[in-house]
Amino acid sequence: MAFDAKYETGVLWQDFQHKQLIDLFGKIKEAGSDDKDKNLYRYTIAFLAMYVNHHFKLEEEYMGKYNYPDKELHEKKHREFVKELKEFRAENKNYSRAGTDDLMMRMGEWILSHILENDQKLGKFILQKEHLLDNSVHGYNFN
Ligand SMILES: [Fe+2]
Ligand SMILES: [Fe+2]
Repeated sequence: MAFDAKYETGVLWQDFQHKQLIDLFGKIKEAGSDDKDKNLYRYTIAFLAMYVNHHFKLEEEYMGKYNYPDKELHEKKHREFVKELKEFRAENKNYSRAGTDDLMMRMGEWILSHILENDQKLGKFILQKEHLLDNSVHGYNFN
């Protein structure tokens, strides 16, 4: 699971955060091989949950700001993911190989396909909106 050009949306903050999210999945996968830090798995998955919430909230703020037509569906996808991650954390309080394999299969793949199917569409929309704003009277948006 790695971030490459095909996952780019063109929106700087979105691409940066997607890369961070994908890196976090990799860290969780490796957490079990670190014998020195038994808490690494728990800390990293807690951080992933927090970061996911922050990321989804930011995308949703942009959807609201620009009246994104697909807002409802996109937000529904976010809610489903948050619910699934919450359930996963409840069922996998400690590291296990099977648990992290399951996390990669279900949620890792989900994130990647969500980027391709939903976030790239949103990114394109944001870029269009911001391009229009750039072409407005003085190129600034004070909203
Ligand atoms: Fe999204
Ligand atoms: Fe996203």
